[in-house]
Amino acid sequence: MNAELCCPLFLIGFMGAGKSSVAQYLASTYDMPAVDTDEAIEQTIGQTVADYFAREGEQAFRARETECLRRLSGSPAIVACGGGIVERPENREIMRASGRTILLDASFDDIAARIEDRSTRPLFQDKHAAHDLFDRRQSLYRSTADTVIDTSGKTVQEICAIVISYAKCEGIVR
Ligand code: S3P
Repeated sequence: MNAELCCPLFLIGFMGAGKSSVAQYLASTYDMPAVDTDEAIEQTIGQTVADYFAREGEQAFRARETECLRRLSGSPAIVACGGGIVERPENREIMRASGRTILLDASFDDIAARIEDRSTRPLFQDKHAAHDLFDRRQSLYRSTADTVIDTSGKTVQEICAIVISYAKCEGIVR
């Protein structure tokens, strides 16, 4: 099945919400180009996000993230965004101006159960701190998203079907 996008479709949501899995499934099932901002940044900097956080700090990472998002904003692709992409107003504006944004919504309990390997996620080292971050970001996710998909109890395939039907409704996919 082939689905052709005419603008970027950004997937946002907290760490572990399923953004990368959904992007990969859309890429393989609908033959859509898909990019993961963390992977794109890792290719540019030649190290893992966790190492870069440890060496250069969060703000340096956020600057890389904005650079990456700006570059991707010109491509009609599924963009799986790092969970903190909504932190910078500049990023929220780039997404708003260049495409559509879907929030993959999940409860903190579901997310915590899904995240097994915390070593790759510098901002998920401590569960209580991660929960605070999750709560603080909710309003940012919701104000940035054009639509919200409640992922609880849904398979990746079901979530992808909702993404595709949203994209068709919006007229951004052929
Ligand atoms: C972050 C989420 C991570 C990654 C970095 C920071 C965050 O991406 O960008 O560790 O601030 O929430 P995922 O959401 O893909 O885990």
